[in-house]
Amino acid sequence: FKVPTPINEPVLNYAAGSSEKIALKKAIAEARSKVIEVPMYIGSELIYTDNKIKLSPPHDHQHILGYASEGDATHVKKAIDAALDARTAWANLSWEQRASIFLKAADLLAGPYRAKINAATMLGQSKNAYQAEIDAACEFIDFLRFNVAFMQQIYTNQPESVRGLWNRVEYRPLEGFVFALTPFNFTAIAGNLPACVAMMGNVTVWKPAYPQIYSANVIMEVLREAGLPDGVINLIYVDGPVAGDIIFKHPDFAGIHFTGSTKVFQTIWQTIGENITKYKTYPRIVGETGGKDFVMAHESADVKALATGLVRGAFEYQGQKCSAASRAYIPSNLWPAVKEQVIADLKEIKMGGTEDFSNFVNSVIDEKSFDKIMGYINNAKKSDKITVIAGGNGDKSKGYFVEPTVLQTSDPNYTTMCEEIFGPVLTIYVYEPKDFEKTLELVDATSPYALTGAIFSQDRYAVDLAMKKLVNSAGNFYINDKPTGAVVGQQPFGGARASGTNDKAGSILNLFRWVQPRTIKETF
Ligand code: SER
Repeated sequence: FKVPTPINEPVLNYAAGSSEKIALKKAIAEARSKVIEVPMYIGSELIYTDNKIKLSPPHDHQHILGYASEGDATHVKKAIDAALDARTAWANLSWEQRASIFLKAADLLAGPYRAKINAATMLGQSKNAYQAEIDAACEFIDFLRFNVAFMQQIYTNQPESVRGLWNRVEYRPLEGFVFALTPFNFTAIAGNLPACVAMMGNVTVWKPAYPQIYSANVIMEVLREAGLPDGVINLIYVDGPVAGDIIFKHPDFAGIHFTGSTKVFQTIWQTIGENITKYKTYPRIVGETGGKDFVMAHESADVKALATGLVRGAFEYQGQKCSAASRAYIPSNLWPAVKEQVIADLKEIKMGGTEDFSNFVNSVIDEKSFDKIMGYINNAKKSDKITVIAGGNGDKSKGYFVEPTVLQTSDPNYTTMCEEIFGPVLTIYVYEPKDFEKTLELVDATSPYALTGAIFSQDRYAVDLAMKKLVNSAGNFYINDKPTGAVVGQQPFGGARASGTNDKAGSILNLFRWVQPRTIKETF
């Protein structure tokens, strides 16, 4: 058995009249025409409860797509038990057998389930067709296929044996269960966090963010159809503190694979610390958290490329990517041209529901998020340090729509330059070209995060200086490109400082966190 060398799943373009567009439109219409019941998946059971979570498109919040069954503490315990019951049989399968299940899942997503998972992501999380395609289809498929290839490298990586001696390393799964706590903003990340852990022979309890439940349900359908045995991934919808109170006190808790906010991750880490003597083993703590991602322009930057990088980096998926550009530093001699180009580009952009494929901007995820983002914008409007360059309005009557908003500030430490907003807000600070080096120091010092960042420059000396000054400021560093859209197998993704443990999603480094190797020396 040798796994196929993966290539990135091609991104379909959904051109008018294309078969993929017809299939996707049909899947959207079908999803909108019914109200489904979404169960929790625990062991072999599909569990329905009387506590219903309403599932609606964020861009059309009166429409009902379905109801998910919310669980309580008993379901958390049941999910842990189901995982532990499944553990031995799953761990005893060969890695090739496990790999074949995830490769089959990738093929199902690439083929028969592509339209369904994209439609679920468009409706449930308010992504446009392109954003859904690069996430729920391509990135998820890539995670599965590339991780299987990395997995093969791990299991076949063996030490030297000499005559009369056989050395080997067994890459065993962790002793216990792993908790996957996943975000709303990428269906691929939500699916990958439990899947890559399971691939390495582990069993998991998976708790998605509520706005992603609708597409999480499709992921579970795919994994089950691909042959994933019951109990390996147990999907529950339970209030965070209720779940945490049981999971983090359990002796068999062996690790957490997390993507979400810095604050929640820090609280979890503290809780794990407080309970450390209860566990059989030191739990693996792997997390990707916030970002305050920068775009730094040198005066040699190409204005058009820079404007495109700003608009796409800041406003694709309404700025709700942890990698989204949210602060930019532009030299004063370029600013008039950049401003003009950004305003012109924004004029071309349409905002509305995901069902109309010509809408580039859709709604933000929920009312809480809408209120938070509008709070930042409204405060900025009152500040004498801020000029609104574009956008600045919101409307939550039908969906949670916030206009792509560009602010200019005279204060490089203004709130919107420092805090993660997680919405379509970009703040610009204009600096004097002679202060390029000083501004690089400012970029580094302004935020506690270090996820992504970009430098736009046609001058290699400036690029080199930026690389040195910003050496710890971003886990993913882009030269002349927007700071979003890392591709699995090409740009392993993750950051340090307040942005996470930098265990690079979609890389062999990440998979190594989910095994506990046993070295065996045998003499004859
Ligand atoms: N991997 C995504 C990106 O690069 C963010 O999670 O945009």
